[in-house]
Amino acid sequence: MRQKILQIEMQIYGYDELNDADRHLMDEAIRATERSYVPYSHFRVGAAARLANQAIVSGSNQENAAYPSGTCAERTTLFYANSQYPDQAVETLAIAARNERGAWLELPISPCGTCRQVMIETEKRFGKPMRILLYGTKGVYELNRATDLLPLSFDAEAMK
Ligand code: THU
Repeated sequence: MRQKILQIEMQIYGYDELNDADRHLMDEAIRATERSYVPYSHFRVGAAARLANQAIVSGSNQENAAYPSGTCAERTTLFYANSQYPDQAVETLAIAARNERGAWLELPISPCGTCRQVMIETEKRFGKPMRILLYGTKGVYELNRATDLLPLSFDAEAMK
């Protein structure tokens, strides 16, 4: 038997400690929550991506009466970014969420498994780490790369 320990590193910042570019990106994610379509969950999520060419693209969760047909803010944003700028790596993805009462969460929401898989694909596609910033009123979590959010993830290499 062999044991392997997988570890990830993350940094926790106060919102005011973010540099200007990251604070601006987070503000875009926060603003994007206002454009979510959430008649079922009333849970507003916004995301904003800064690309290698410094363009910023944002998106929000979009729900549907047939629940699985809706999509999360992270996927809305990444698919939009990749369709508008197919040759631009995503440098940083910021995510923010408000609960049913419209209150910002103290602890950041953690992206769902499907979004993590999509984040990893974006990261691998461009061969560059994609930083993730998760907003919480008690601290902003910074992950250094999307793959850190999904250890031992499915990899297309396995199909070869
Ligand atoms: N949601 C997101 O947009 N991102 C996440 O990381 C978690 C969940 C959305 C999906 C659905 O519209 C609502 O939040 C409740 O799950």
